[in-house]
Amino acid sequence: MHSFGYRLNGLLTFAVTILALMCAITSLSDNFNTPSPSAEIKIMNINWFQKQPQGHDEVSLTMNVSADLQSLFTWNTKQVFVFVAAEYETRKNSLNQVSLWDAIIPAKEHAKFWIHTSNKYRFVDQVKKAVNG
Ligand SMILES: *[C@@H]1O[C@H](CO)[C@@H](O)[C@H](O)[C@H]1NC(C)=O
Repeated sequence: MHSFGYRLNGLLTFAVTILALMCAITSLSDNFNTPSPSAEIKIMNINWFQKQPQGHDEVSLTMNVSADLQSLFTWNTKQVFVFVAAEYETRKNSLNQVSLWDAIIPAKEHAKFWIHTSNKYRFVDQVKKAVNG
């Protein structure tokens, strides 16, 4: 006859093994998702383009951002952060990046959207007086 302690040990070992196996399977299942997000941005209007007193350019624009990010959502996705960045080249820098707009998508139901918006953050070139500019 097995003692009580021996049986308890056997039961716990079995339970922990099953738990570990379930964790491994759920983690693995996330890798089978091959997301195929798509996005499109159209510049609808240049609202204004100005040279600022400090010597740098600033532009305000209106764009239509449309995206289908639903495939990014799995059981393991809390939220998705999206942003639109403008990239351009100047004589000083081969790559400039300016964040124009961003959003947090909290759920799959909100992951397919379009938005007609002007830039949320100022789209300015580097100020000439700045250390790097
Ligand atoms: C923005 O783009 C979407 C998808 O292409 C389109 O359905 C929608 O009508 C557009 N909105 C405007 C205001 O142009």
